[in-house]
Amino acid sequence: MDIIVKESYEEMSKCAADIIANFIKSKPSCVLGLATGSTPIGTYRELIKMHREGLDFSQVKTFNLDEYFGIGIDLSKPYEMDQSYARFIYEELLKHVNIKKENIYIPDGLTKEPEKFCQWYEDMIKKAGGIDLQLLGIGRDGHLAFNEPGSSFSSRTRVVPLTEQTVDDNYESFYRKANIKKEDMPHFAITMGMGTILEAKQLLMIASGKKKAKVVAKALQGPVTTRIAASALQIFNGKVTVVLDKEAASELS
Ligand code: PGA
Repeated sequence: MDIIVKESYEEMSKCAADIIANFIKSKPSCVLGLATGSTPIGTYRELIKMHREGLDFSQVKTFNLDEYFGIGIDLSKPYEMDQSYARFIYEELLKHVNIKKENIYIPDGLTKEPEKFCQWYEDMIKKAGGIDLQLLGIGRDGHLAFNEPGSSFSSRTRVVPLTEQTVDDNYESFYRKANIKKEDMPHFAITMGMGTILEAKQLLMIASGKKKAKVVAKALQGPVTTRIAASALQIFNGKVTVVLDKEAASELS
């Protein structure tokens, strides 16, 4: 595992974006796994800048890690400003780069047939040849995507309940600003499973800020346990790169 520590959030974001951009240059038709949350926003801004300077997304395919269950948008139609991860990734990255609509895959939070949809999502990942590079954030409870503590390392794409901590963190990061009442927040999500994520060829995890320091240390240097989903990175077969800012790295020994 490569652990890179940068001075600031901006430098962490630049470093992660450089890794992704170099990957796209080396394999223009690559399959990227995308993450949502506040951490990757800077990375996506850097990628948009690089796109304006020529980085080409025309052959790239993307698969998002997760989506709230019960909300979502149809990207082919005009949409309302909801708090879906589909809207997030579209606003923060996809609408700014030359990716083809048919190459964008996002779990459908509005599906009426979740089991069937989750299987379809897994099938689409396989059909695309698997995820080449998966970008990941980490939750304060150690989750990757919405694989909350206790998720099996072999779990697949499925509907999951969210922990109170995750609901609280997401409320503070996004919902409060959008004036949405806490009781109206979704408590379920569709998420790629740990098994799905661990089948990617390469993983890139980013984390920033003091509030992530403890869980980063547990994930990277503590015991490998399903109680901290991100500890699975320690036993991942392929290449893992972790990019942290100084604060997120402050509890590493
Ligand atoms: P954050 O979320 O980037 O908003 O901190 C990360 C995560 O929960 O995976």
